[in-house]
Amino acid sequence: MSAAVSKKSGSVGTKRLIAALRGEVRERPPFWLMRQAGRYLPEYRAVRRQAPNFIEFCYNTDLAVEVTLQPIRRFAPDAAILFADILLIPEALGVATAFHEGEGPRLEPVRELDQVRRLAIEEVDEHLAPVYGTVARLAQELPAEVALIGFAGAPWTVATYMVEGGGSKDFATVKRWALGQPDAFQELIDVLVEATIRYLSRQIEAGAEVVQLFDTWAGALPEVGFRRWCLEPLAKIVQALRQAYPDVPVIAFPRGCGALYAEVARQSGVDGLGLDSSVPLDWAARELQTKCAVQGNLDPQLLVVGGPQMEAEIDRVLDALGDGPFVFNLGHGIVPETPPEHVEALAERLHAWRRV
Ligand code: CP3
Repeated sequence: MSAAVSKKSGSVGTKRLIAALRGEVRERPPFWLMRQAGRYLPEYRAVRRQAPNFIEFCYNTDLAVEVTLQPIRRFAPDAAILFADILLIPEALGVATAFHEGEGPRLEPVRELDQVRRLAIEEVDEHLAPVYGTVARLAQELPAEVALIGFAGAPWTVATYMVEGGGSKDFATVKRWALGQPDAFQELIDVLVEATIRYLSRQIEAGAEVVQLFDTWAGALPEVGFRRWCLEPLAKIVQALRQAYPDVPVIAFPRGCGALYAEVARQSGVDGLGLDSSVPLDWAARELQTKCAVQGNLDPQLLVVGGPQMEAEIDRVLDALGDGPFVFNLGHGIVPETPPEHVEALAERLHAWRRV
């Protein structure tokens, strides 16, 4: 499919992704897929074997550039997302972080204010320098029409991993801290807000043209907690980036936040809102897409299913949202079981689609 990555359309005007995030509606919407680089691709697994562990893989510019480009060559999406991980921020703050095969991430738990106050905020953006090297190389190597997306985890989601010491089913420990001692927990969130602003600023300076904040576990909080630990930190990050880099669009992905998506659309200042697969499309068109661009939200399991079921749902999403500012994506990341041919079928359908 590499022939599909032509340099032609990129030379005329704004890249398709950036135009959509600015509210423009063109003949077809841009698309990219969360976790488009990953284990579902045999060429990713081959490169992955060259690194001793996942963290070193993320910090190896040659390998990170290569795996970022792999899905671009195969599927010609409208954007590349930097290959890195949301847990590099805790790692850079001095929290021991490891990924064990098949077990998910393990972090040294942060549960005391003393530990929060020892986090290495002054060193964080410098520690992440190899990532900026990857961004700079990608900015040079990507086809002209492909936009480069930088990213970070949102403070709440990163805090869940730091406090729980890894993934969690019920978030009991972090929620008891956040809801029980909010002023202490605020210190951790403040450190993460500051680290995230520095990290994303450096990515932008290295060449990221759009940034996305992943708040994967936003749906774990009740209403008031959501406002304080997801919406407010997001608004602060957006405001700081907007002031320094007014032309760089910001996408937020507050996964699972339900009706609170409407508040994020109205109050956070984001340019784009990533919708999880549970968000009803007609509601999103009415309540969200009138405030900012929306992105989403094909269920990743439909990409495993493929065939007519996948195609029908792709069309339903396009019909509902394709007439407004829209970025086609999944409602969450690609899963490892996904057949690459199904992603290819999706890419073909999106390249061919036209607004009527
Ligand atoms: O292609 C891309 O989307 C860019 C790279 C990217 C990765 N992780 C690579 C990765 C991005 C944007 C992320 C974000 C991320 N990381 C999130 C938010 C998005 C989401 O999916 O909810 C979260 C929660 C993480 C934390 C994380 N990283 C977990 C829980 C795991 C282990 C689970 C798993 O899938 O293995 C990771 C590891 C990880 N990050 C992999 C990849 C490709 C797989 C690791 C491997 O190859 O061994």
